[in-house]
Parts: sequence; structure tokens; C-alpha cells
Amino acid sequence: QDYDLVVVGSANADLVVGVERRPGAGQTVLGSDLAVHPGGKGANQAVAAARLGARTALLARIGDDAHGRMLLDVQRRAGVDTAGVLVGGAPTGVALIVVDPSGDNSIVVSPGANARLGPGDVRAAGAMLRAARVVSLQLEIPLESVAETVRTAAAVDTRVVLNPSPPAPLPDDVLAACDPLVVNEHEAKALLAGDPASDDDSPEAWAEALLARGPRSVVVTLGAAGALVARADGGAGTVTVPSPAVRAVDTTGAGDAFTGALAWRLGAGDDLETAVRFAVRVGAAAVKRTGAQQSFPTLDELEDR
Ligand code: RIB
Ligand code: NA
Repeated sequence: QDYDLVVVGSANADLVVGVERRPGAGQTVLGSDLAVHPGGKGANQAVAAARLGARTALLARIGDDAHGRMLLDVQRRAGVDTAGVLVGGAPTGVALIVVDPSGDNSIVVSPGANARLGPGDVRAAGAMLRAARVVSLQLEIPLESVAETVRTAAAVDTRVVLNPSPPAPLPDDVLAACDPLVVNEHEAKALLAGDPASDDDSPEAWAEALLARGPRSVVVTLGAAGALVARADGGAGTVTVPSPAVRAVDTTGAGDAFTGALAWRLGAGDDLETAVRFAVRVGAAAVKRTGAQQSFPTLDELEDR
């Protein structure tokens, strides 16, 4: 295969302001100077994998504007193949992000060009998708495009990794293809809305209930507590993988770094638990620095820590 990983997803300019407390409804707060960082869950995953050494391509759509050029430049410098990055149709996606002193964030995304990455664009990139060991997706692009990607990948038995973020109801064939479905606590609860397991405070219960929806495996990311792994065919039950302890500076994109690293290692032949053990270290490294993409480690930096 030509690519260890093809990421199909979003690219955003992250407009970031640090605040003492994230504002509630009707509240105004003053924050730090504005920082503009490369982001977007798809672009983040691609940079995370490429920086670790994976042969990575990104299928995405950006605007013909300064944000788009900044994003392309960062992808290229990380070593991502950007032949599948389409330009035009709307302004580049933007994420409005506030980060508090504990490193927690709140994000509003204006999808812009991401919303114009259509199923036709996916069909046109069929050769690239079929040349991938693993295809990784999130939900900041139209659901029809996610479904088209999954169908293309499934037809040639390519492994599919999906982080359903922001959460939305998923068609059965999309869920069935996920190996794994990667969720954090919010995403797990949103997907399980109406299911008694969502009232539970147990990641094991979420994983079991999500597995019952059809994916081949589920990974629940638990922030500082690491991640939980559950497989449909795994008699051994769930396994919790601890995270190294780090001082969190900015958690933005850490989940994307985790998922990009995980998808790469799965394509390289690691079993799911081994890949998750590697990916939690990448996610932990990412929270130690500001921003998303610029905080992601190279393999050397990961080994040094
Ligand atoms: O997951 C983090 C990402 O979510 C940010 O980079 C932002 O662009 C939003 O897509
Ligand atoms: Na970070």
C-alpha cells in the first residue's frame, strides 16, 4: 500500500484565546491575545501520524484564503501528502477556542469549506483510499461523505477508524465498519443517549453498550486516566491502558493526536491494545504544549520524554 494512513476530514484555523474561566450563557470575559493555530480534527490526525513517521495523506477541503494556505503549509512541512486537499467553495473552516488554566477548552466550529467536502470528492479520491492500510475519519465533514468513504474502504477491506466528533447518529453500515470506534466520555454519552448505559458513570458500560451497536472494537479515551479498549471478538473483556502523568498545558487536539497515532500503529500491524499503549503516550505528549498540531511529538521527542 502507498499510504499507512489516509485521513478524510476537516482542516480548521484555530482562533485561540486563553481565559481564567470559560464563559457561561450571557457572560462576557476578557482573555489573552488572539493566537491563530493550525487545527481541525482531520488535519490534526494527519499531522500527528506524519510527524511520527507514517506515510500519510489527507483528503480535505479548504478555502482559497490565508487560513487555507497556512494549513497546507503545515501539512506539507509535517510530510503529509496533500494531493487530496481540495481548495474552494467556501472560506476555510474556523474553530473558536477558549482554553482555561487547567488546559480544558470549549470549541465552536464554523465548518466553511469542510461542509463542502462532498461524496463526489470522496469518489474522485477512490484510488487514494484504496491505496491506504487504514482510513481514519471524524464528523466535521458531511455525514454522506463519511459514509461514502466507509463504503469505499469496506469494499477493499481497508481498516476504518472513526472518532464520531462532534457526535451525531451514525448509519449502521458506518458503525459496523469501525475498528475501532474511538470516543471520549462526551461522545460516548451522546451516542448512547436514551440508552440506560449513558446514565452509568462506567466507561466499561459505555464500551459494552457501544459494541452492541455493531463496531468491531471500541476505544474510550479517558484523558489523564488513559484509555479503555473493548473488542467484539475479545473474550478477555475490557482493558484499561494508563496514561503517563503529565502537567496539562493545553488539551486541544490531544484526542486527535491519540487517534492519528493509533490508526498508524494499527496499519503497521500492532494489535489494538499495543497500538493504544503507544497512542496514549502521544496524546500525553500533546497536552504538554500549546495548540494542537504544533504540540504533536516526533518519534524522537516521544522517546526522549
Ligand atoms: O479536536 C480539536 C480540534 O477540534 C481543533 O483543532 C479544532 O479545529 C476543532 O476541529
Ligand atoms: Na496541545
